[in-house]
Amino acid sequence: KIIVLDYGSQYNQLITRRIREIGVFSELHPHHVTASELKELEPTGIILSGGPNSVYGEDAFSIDPEIFELGIPILGICYGMQLMSFHLGGEVGRAGKREYGKATIKRENDSDLFTALPDEQQVWMSHGDHVTKVPEGFTVDASNESCPIAAISYKEKGFYGVQFHPEVKHSEFGNDLLRNFVMGICQCSGEWSMENFIELEVEKIRDQVKDRKVLCALSGGVDSSVVAVLLHRAIGDQLTCIFVDHGLLRKNEADDVMKMFREGFNINVIKVDAQDRFLSKLKGVNDPEQKRKIIGNEFIYVFEDEASKLKDIDYLAQGTLYTDIIESGTQTAQTIKSHHNVGGLPERMEFDLIEPLNTLFKDEVRVLGEELGIPEHIVWRQPFPGPGLAIRVLGEVTEDKLEIVRESDAILREEIKNAGLDRDIWQYFTVLPGIQSVGVMGDQRTYDHAIGIRAVTSVDGMTSDWARIPYDVLQKISTRIVNEVDHVNRVIYDITSKPPSTIEWE
Ligand code: XMP
Repeated sequence: KIIVLDYGSQYNQLITRRIREIGVFSELHPHHVTASELKELEPTGIILSGGPNSVYGEDAFSIDPEIFELGIPILGICYGMQLMSFHLGGEVGRAGKREYGKATIKRENDSDLFTALPDEQQVWMSHGDHVTKVPEGFTVDASNESCPIAAISYKEKGFYGVQFHPEVKHSEFGNDLLRNFVMGICQCSGEWSMENFIELEVEKIRDQVKDRKVLCALSGGVDSSVVAVLLHRAIGDQLTCIFVDHGLLRKNEADDVMKMFREGFNINVIKVDAQDRFLSKLKGVNDPEQKRKIIGNEFIYVFEDEASKLKDIDYLAQGTLYTDIIESGTQTAQTIKSHHNVGGLPERMEFDLIEPLNTLFKDEVRVLGEELGIPEHIVWRQPFPGPGLAIRVLGEVTEDKLEIVRESDAILREEIKNAGLDRDIWQYFTVLPGIQSVGVMGDQRTYDHAIGIRAVTSVDGMTSDWARIPYDVLQKISTRIVNEVDHVNRVIYDITSKPPSTIEWE
């Protein structure tokens, strides 16, 4: 496997990602790992990522110099190359001007990094400093005008450096270059795949759990479903799942989830019917943040109550993803909404954690889910927030209002699917703003609810645009909602992007 040391570049997740795409396992580790810790991980190659610092900066992230003595090939990217040069006796200086964007580099020397690549190639540069003098033993392998030392190597030691970012798609032959490093220089076999991942994880889980018992909070979402099925494959009946039905789920959702896990996978699931508990706690509450907190807390209480009835449970399995770990490690963002999901459960519960997905990206989890035989509609499910429909009924939540959202949402989903748009639109749902307006139906005056449609395109939910649903599809959705859902006489379409709006209305 290839270990990437994290020096804080915005692209470092991409490096591990590209390497896995080549078929070699790769993980990101913090930059302060010591040489002996690193050695224990048995990497075949090491990559030092880019980063925002300057090697001369006061708080510059450094490296344990003994890492250069391990005899393992090292590729330094951007800051990583500067750090390597600096430590091995070269010099780093401020570039005449910051170079940012596309650049063309020219080959100066044969290097194993550039095997089978053209002499000139377009690369993605993003740096203020650059190497001004290479350490002894190194050759300069590529250059361009503003960056005369754009790639370096010391073949005998297995040290390589590039000033540009091969992991970014704009670097024309970036993937080939990474492949040259991983397959050529490090001689990895390139046989890593999701199937291997399942085998390895199943072994790991069995080793860890032995004959003890594991609990898993199932939400019906992709991540917790994949965790449950993976664990079940490893330890069978030693796994118990708890599914809390808080009454804020979509139409038929609870039944579908139960059916799939109990009948489809034979997994032992306890279903807790907690609708009344949640609704009574939400009674009279209008404030969105308070609603979210109540639901999050109540979820924990219900889960704890149920878990305490079980005996001899030692482990809790969670669907924490790679991005969750990275984000919680580096994000200092302001709280816009206090997100709740079942991943946030255990801190005060005395279980050891099992997090088999914590090296994977979301789309890798979907591939894993497919490989495990989880049905497509679950694996490719749109995101659904932990607080469920409660944040789509604006203001106070009542069963009547939930019913309006639930029914209109079911129609929207059906029509989006019929139109073949369900994979193109990232997320789509209806909201009940709580506005009543005048209408006319069958010569009768009505004074009833407006329903809002929210449909967005996005990559990660951090930003989004409103989806351009064709008018005739919108027309059909609108007609069906007004005709089929009681107490709705108007349908509106939300055409704001995020920012400035958020995706959910609360
Ligand atoms: P916002 O509304 O913040 O939503 O633009 C971004 C994405 O996050 C989902 N979301 C949540 N997911 N727990 C979750 O697990 C939550 O409390 C929560 N609130 C919002 C939202 O559906 C969208 O996909």
